[in-house]
Amino acid sequence: MSGNPTPAGTDFAKGLAGVVAGRTSICSLDGDLRYRGYSIGPLAEAGSFEDVAFLLLHGDLPTTAEHHAFAARLRVAADSIHPAVIDAMATLAERTPQASPMDALRTGVSMLGLIELDQTPGPHAALVAQAERLLGQVPALLGAWFDLCAGRPVAPWPDRPLAGALLERLTGRRPTAAEEAIFGTTLVLYAEHEFNASTFAARTVVSTGSDMHSGIVAAIGALKGPLHGGANEQVLEELAEIGSLDRVVPWLEERFAARKVVMGFGHRVYKDGDVRATLLGAKCAQLANGGPGEAIETLAAAVETLMLDRKGLRPNLDWPAARVYHALGLPVRVFTPIFVVSRMSGWTAHIIEQVGDNRIIRPLSIYCGQPPRPWRPMESR
Ligand code: COA
Repeated sequence: MSGNPTPAGTDFAKGLAGVVAGRTSICSLDGDLRYRGYSIGPLAEAGSFEDVAFLLLHGDLPTTAEHHAFAARLRVAADSIHPAVIDAMATLAERTPQASPMDALRTGVSMLGLIELDQTPGPHAALVAQAERLLGQVPALLGAWFDLCAGRPVAPWPDRPLAGALLERLTGRRPTAAEEAIFGTTLVLYAEHEFNASTFAARTVVSTGSDMHSGIVAAIGALKGPLHGGANEQVLEELAEIGSLDRVVPWLEERFAARKVVMGFGHRVYKDGDVRATLLGAKCAQLANGGPGEAIETLAAAVETLMLDRKGLRPNLDWPAARVYHALGLPVRVFTPIFVVSRMSGWTAHIIEQVGDNRIIRPLSIYCGQPPRPWRPMESR
């Protein structure tokens, strides 16, 4: 017999906390956060999503020529969505415009997989090409859904770096250089984070021999949850609910008494603070300075102080990211879809890594149900 140890006793790690479930060369959280060995600080400061996506997918930072060629491939991909997918999205948007854009993206990626006949993972080069295509298509799908829900024809994808193009598509106006830079920083910070729930979901799906689109569909579903990516939308809902400085203490006390979590705080891995929140928090305060976001910043600072004093908890990335997106004029319902656009780079890199050194992901459980009992025919139940 090889490989599978028999579980001893009743010990297990709820939520797989602390369990090492595999190896990765994509990202490390050991002290600093690093993508393929590069510290997150300078990557976030440079704020180039294309650089980081290339790094995650191809293993190293691009040269200037590689960067431009990669960015051009993403733009071509953005315009490559089959009209049948757009038509189906148009029907759905007309029928249910209030649907979550996360569901629209999940459905859109699923349709792309169908129409592109994605069945099983191909060789490495084919997977990388497929990943690049998805990296360009997913933001374009989001922009298309946004237009279709507003009853507009789908606008063309702007011929610019992805951060500025996406911001332009979602706000309907050309962003300033400063806006584009901080938005790019959020995309870099959201791009990759090791064996988080959505990435692990994607790896699990492709570990069965299934295709990349199926892995991404599962990942989008996992990211949607408020304990994971959905937290960035909840952060803003909660700040709006608190409303004013005098409400901070009673609101939090009610929350603690009800044993409900406060969105944007705590992390499974970072117990002394999330380096990404520190990096973005400083930029967020600058962005809001003197603008309409300033009142929210004052509230946020009061919540942070109380969370640390009362719970010993520090913010995670969703805490400043939600405020940055709000200050940029983005509607709350696109906050988590923006996370999808960025995390596509990490997800696809992990799918390729899993396929390249695969063993089906299949853990064990401890049975805690009924003891053995006899089957009874229906008439005697
Ligand atoms: N607000 C209030 N209490 C929190 C909290 C939060 N945001 N995050 C953790 N806690 C509490 C837990 O309830 C637990 O309390 P207990 O010991 O009395 O039961 C304690 O802190 C330890 O938390 P832990 O169980 O180790 O957290 P986890 O690793 O299982 O979960 C998260 C991690 C991220 C899911 C959790 O912190 C959370 O729900 N945060 C809010 C959602 C969020 O921001 N998600 C985005 C993550 S990047």
